[in-house]
Amino acid sequence: MRYNTRTRVFPVDPEHPAPGIIAVAANAIRDGRLVAFPTETVYGLGADATRIEAVGRIFAAKQRPTTDPIIVHIAAIEQLDQVAVEIPMLARQLADRFWAGALTMILKRSDRIPSIVSAGRETVAVRMPSHPVAKALIEAAGVPIAAPSANTFSRPSATTAAHVLDDLDGHVDVILDGGAARIGLESTVIDLTLDAPTVLRPGGVTLEALREIIPDVQTRERYIDAESGEAAASPGEMLKHYAPNARLMLIDGDANAANVHIRQLAAEFTANGERVGILAPDEETALFADSRATVIGIGSRDDLAQIGVGLFGSIRRIDAKNVAVILIRSLPREGLGAAIWDRLVRAAEGRVIYV
Ligand code: TXA
Ligand code: MG
Repeated sequence: MRYNTRTRVFPVDPEHPAPGIIAVAANAIRDGRLVAFPTETVYGLGADATRIEAVGRIFAAKQRPTTDPIIVHIAAIEQLDQVAVEIPMLARQLADRFWAGALTMILKRSDRIPSIVSAGRETVAVRMPSHPVAKALIEAAGVPIAAPSANTFSRPSATTAAHVLDDLDGHVDVILDGGAARIGLESTVIDLTLDAPTVLRPGGVTLEALREIIPDVQTRERYIDAESGEAAASPGEMLKHYAPNARLMLIDGDANAANVHIRQLAAEFTANGERVGILAPDEETALFADSRATVIGIGSRDDLAQIGVGLFGSIRRIDAKNVAVILIRSLPREGLGAAIWDRLVRAAEGRVIYV
């Protein structure tokens, strides 16, 4: 059964959240209720990580399978020892360099974190967010907060409070509206319990930055089709994720060739009576002006950070225009481009066309 409740939304200053509002949200967490809150990456759907029944509500609200583990958020490095055990030196080094921030580490789970959080695994994913609202909430609640992204399962992540409401109105107790998330893409997930440190999900901390500390960091690019029956080490590896209602198609290759192909596909789909949406870098939207497609600019092609901030929002926005197909070309994969590529492949459920 889905978790049902009355949702209350509180606007909050993202830099200096009012203590009174934080107290209301922290009380809800201590009551075992759900609070959606902004982080620098995306909005989280939080509950007391130490209580089984509270964490159960997260799964029920998101309609998330209980096989998909959840990240635990802390506000201070001292809290790490309440959450994880046998913490390697490397974790301390990574925390020094990247926390508070967009890095999640998989470590050995402490008994104080119930196994439901980790979907039965011996490990736990931990992150210390830098957003002042997230930090204030975790501090005031006095417990680590379990929080997946605040979207319905397999939908694009929520980067504004409006996205949270769209997906979870009536299923979350409190929403702290602190404006748009600064990064817009989720944290980088690195597993430190394997023989070699391995990035399971590219995200807000780039591989290039991680390599400054772990020169030979491993990556695992896996896209698992649910129908194949193959098991995922991290459910974030499932191919269908972040998916809009429309069929999103990712066109990979040289930018000019990709755009020519997008024009051609748009013409074919519209000729067949299907409504088409095109997501394009701002510099390139004019290329599609004469098509009958709905075209949305996603930011400058020279600024992947800007594209990252608005990516999930752009996908939600064009999806809301009731298009049948969404076309987008690939972008360079360096830096934040690795996370953008990953999210687009999953939003496309693997429909990548190489030109
Ligand atoms: O930026 C973020 O990471 C956001 C904000 C709210 O912190 N959270 C987020 O959570 O993206 P979620 O649940 O949407 O994604 C968490 C990812 C999933 O791919 C999950 O499978 C993986 O982390 N994960 C969590 N715990 C894990 C564990 N113990 N072992 C392996 N993978 C784990
Ligand atoms: Mg998610």
